[in-house]
Amino acid sequence: MIKKEYNKDLSRLNTFGMKVSARLYLEYDSVADLFDMDFEQLLSPVKHIGGGSNLLFTKDFSGTILHSKIDFIEVLEGSGKGTVSQGSGTMPDGASQGSGAMPDGASQGSGTVRVSVGAGLKFDSLCEWTASKGLWGIENLSGIPGEVGAAAAGNIGAYGQEFGQVVREVYAYDTREEDFVKFTREDCKYDYRYSVFKEGGVLSSRYIITHVVIELSSEPRPCLEYGHLAQALDGDLSIGHIRETIIATRDSKLPCPEKTGSAGSFFKNPVVDRAVYEKIAASSAVPVPHYDKQDGTVKIPAAWLIEQCGWKGRRSGNAAVWEKQPLVLVNATGLALPEEILSLEAKIKVSVREKFGIELSPEVEHI
Ligand code: EPU
Repeated sequence: MIKKEYNKDLSRLNTFGMKVSARLYLEYDSVADLFDMDFEQLLSPVKHIGGGSNLLFTKDFSGTILHSKIDFIEVLEGSGKGTVSQGSGTMPDGASQGSGAMPDGASQGSGTVRVSVGAGLKFDSLCEWTASKGLWGIENLSGIPGEVGAAAAGNIGAYGQEFGQVVREVYAYDTREEDFVKFTREDCKYDYRYSVFKEGGVLSSRYIITHVVIELSSEPRPCLEYGHLAQALDGDLSIGHIRETIIATRDSKLPCPEKTGSAGSFFKNPVVDRAVYEKIAASSAVPVPHYDKQDGTVKIPAAWLIEQCGWKGRRSGNAAVWEKQPLVLVNATGLALPEEILSLEAKIKVSVREKFGIELSPEVEHI
């Protein structure tokens, strides 16, 4: 079913809470709906959103916003088989949802389990489900806002895991050919916060992700390399405890989405030549946190650069830099206008450029 609204208020559809509107908003819950849409007739530009958790609307949107409610979970192979409905979504082959039995065996078997997931499912509902089934691979991504399709397109990552690592196939509707296309994981060209679906132009607007096939392990595979995670777990390496610990860590650093609008990390962590890092390290009074990459370049946390420039916790009108994690810009009062966030972004970039000679680039998509 397609839900159609004109002059739609988008403030609840973007986690920054920007009070903007879309000329036309279409929400659909089956692949059949996509076949029914005449893309040439839609008000342009056309933009597909997920949970609106990684974007900044810079003004009212003059075209069509599309949003998927395809939200099934289906175990494809492994030790259990079954379909689990998370809501009103419809499966890609049009099969009805209903109360498919939970794949009880999925937590007992060995090896890998493939799961097909609708693009419109909340990403953390997927993490909660996989943890409850003892399926390993995305437990460290617990608590990330957003939806599965956007997670696959943006290769979301946290605490040593990236979603692209478990993605095996991405299915999309090709709006030009009016047909389905399968992208293998290789086709997706995953990299840090990157896939082909993030490329500007043709790719990003032509294909609409409908569902994603992921491969998880039914054998325990704790991923504990990141920071103090192993220490925080205090010896309990169960998947449920890892999920809870990750969520508690996130809650202690990141703003609560219900209370303070943000889009998570606003900037990417810059990767610089070793010489640039060494120059900064030589002139710094404190140790410079950094991660050496295999190709000889060095990644420096943007949070540190921003903090060193004195921005941590600072307010600028209704926008602010989060006091516990300066990589996050927030809508401090709930009343921030897009231009206030943009102005804060610009000021931070100037500071970091002047102090360190590093150009920060946004992680958050500007629309
Ligand atoms: N740091 C500071 N000051 C701070 C906070 C952090 O200097 O106030 C420095 C420290 O050196 C710290 C380092 O930054 O060790 C890294 O901090 P953190 O572990 O919080 O990770 P991050 O690199 O800032 C990335 C992701 C986050 C993800 C965390 C945890 C990006 C752009 N961001 O942040 O993702 O949750 O790692 O894995 O890669 C998001 O994308 O929205 C997001 C929250």
